[in-house]
Amino acid sequence: MRTTVGIVGAGPAGLLLARLLHLAGVDCVVLEARDRAYAEARQRAGMLEQSTVDVLRACGAGARLDREGLFHDGIEIRFDGRSHRVDLAAHTGGRQATIYAQTEIVKDLVALQLKDGPPLLFEAQALAVERADTARPAVRYFHEGAEHLLECDYVAGCDGSYGVTRRALPAAGTRVYEHVYPYSWLGVLADVPPTHDELVYAAHERGFALYSMRTPAVSRLYLQVPAGTDPADWPDERIWDELAARYATADGPPLRRGPIMSRSLTPMRTRVTEPMRHGRVLLAGDAAHIVPPTGAKGLNGAVADAVTLAEALALWHRTGGERLLDVYSDTCLHRVRQAVRFSRDLTELLHTGPDRDGSAHRSRTARLRRLLASPGAVAALAHEYTGLWSAWCPAAPAGDGGG
Ligand code: PHB
Repeated sequence: MRTTVGIVGAGPAGLLLARLLHLAGVDCVVLEARDRAYAEARQRAGMLEQSTVDVLRACGAGARLDREGLFHDGIEIRFDGRSHRVDLAAHTGGRQATIYAQTEIVKDLVALQLKDGPPLLFEAQALAVERADTARPAVRYFHEGAEHLLECDYVAGCDGSYGVTRRALPAAGTRVYEHVYPYSWLGVLADVPPTHDELVYAAHERGFALYSMRTPAVSRLYLQVPAGTDPADWPDERIWDELAARYATADGPPLRRGPIMSRSLTPMRTRVTEPMRHGRVLLAGDAAHIVPPTGAKGLNGAVADAVTLAEALALWHRTGGERLLDVYSDTCLHRVRQAVRFSRDLTELLHTGPDRDGSAHRSRTARLRRLLASPGAVAALAHEYTGLWSAWCPAAPAGDGGG
């Protein structure tokens, strides 16, 4: 099989890239190792920056998002038994934080692509990228009992942090920055309407907790736990009691409790691969960079990469010019480093580390108090929370009827 852009991975980065290339008239093929049901059920963070919402609308994937997304003007930060609201919209000229799960974005993009888009092959497992530094790279993959070769002009590696495309980058000349935190998030989906209208970030001495949601009927909650924790050690009762302890305020409503439908552990780590390109292989999303989930920059970063890459490939396709492809890695990494810094700062501000006498917690709450008392610092937080990449975001592509 031959195509212009071979896309490995049908997560948000790969599917959005395929959609944008299709709208720009560039041929592509998407290979996804898992089956459709699995790809559509991968649970990840579900908070969209304003620019991510704008791009999904502009490419025709905004209809259900507009109907079912939960649009938030603010967030709450809770510590020492008190809640403090950060008015995101007021500080950013109306930018919101939107709750719409990754699973739903993937479903919408898959449906669009299967309807009128480029080929999307499920259960097509990429085995290796070959000839990465020639003008004719290829992806070797396994599908329907046999090996095949997808020959391309460019390969887009959108296959996540464990994918094969990053292996096409030579060790010499590639730098990998990595940091692993000693704690993880225990994430649960609970069959109960959210207690709060907005997201609540709680910095408690016992550890961090995050109150989020998926729909008006389903809550999404996270608890900081030690790395390596077995979710099976956390029965429903223990989870609710721990959440209640970390969220306790003098006057707030008690947490609504309900059956927990799923629980999983998210390790906290940062990993950035530089550059994000080797020859004609370009990485996007988790394949290139992982940040801890605090602040939900992972999915938004994947979307920003896909937009940047689609623009660069579309220019090359139209004119033969490689100017934007040549700066693709630097353009993305400029933003990625901001995401790394933001995610690290927010993580360290809200989580507990080793703290023998409580002084680390007191110094964290002093920092939080200082931040919330400073209009400039609150405005900066609101800007970074609702959109790190708008300043670098090229004009949203013209849609074909969406939005
Ligand atoms: C989520 O809803 O999964 C979520 C929201 C905000 C975050 C992280 C995760 O900062």
